[in-house]
Amino acid sequence: MRTTGTGMIAVALMAAAAVLIGADQGPTDGPQYTKDGKLTRPPNYREWIFLSSGLGMTYGPLASPGDPRFDNVFVNRAAYRGFLETGRWPDQTVLVLEVRSSQSKGSINRGGHFQDEVAGVEVHVKDEKRFPRKWAFFGFREGEQASTAIPATAGCYSCHEQNGAVDTTFVQFYPTLIGVAKAKGGMK
Ligand code: HEC
Repeated sequence: MRTTGTGMIAVALMAAAAVLIGADQGPTDGPQYTKDGKLTRPPNYREWIFLSSGLGMTYGPLASPGDPRFDNVFVNRAAYRGFLETGRWPDQTVLVLEVRSSQSKGSINRGGHFQDEVAGVEVHVKDEKRFPRKWAFFGFREGEQASTAIPATAGCYSCHEQNGAVDTTFVQFYPTLIGVAKAKGGMK
């Protein structure tokens, strides 16, 4: 009798923990799609985990002359937690690259740059069942709320596949994750 009682309590506690973890992740943490299969622009990515800000990096499609741009990278919380455990991205990972212009003159500033307007939002999604390469890229113009996947022939895929340190992502530029990936064997 005693054993059964303890067992039941343990089961009840595990169920409660599962509910709590589920509630914490929220229903909209992973990728969301419209009925016609477009990815919806992640509405709350600014409340996700911040990975890094690249400043004036010049590898990519949104590079521009003039004041350097910031690349702010965010990831959904559930994926971040998975990465901390395994050093790899779990299914349903959503990475957001928010490109912002910068300024150097304003208020009391005397040197350096601060962030200004959004110049573009790009998204990298891991959805193993939906995409043949498991990952897909999306771009959102200002005000655009849904977007179809960028075709697999685009330069995004080849550069990320060839140069990304973990799977097709640039973890080598995300300082809080490099150590985790190395320790857990996630680096390519
Ligand atoms: C020549 C190489 C190159 C090409 C082409 C490229 N990227 Fe990237 N991408 C990078 C690098 C380097 C980073 C690292 C982070 C940064 O910019 O701060 C990155 C980061 C990203 C991220 C953040 C998540 C991640 O995967 O690490 C997204 C989203 C992204 N790129 C989308 C795109 C899209 C969409 C395209 C195509 C329109 C594209 N990239 C083309 C090199 C490239």
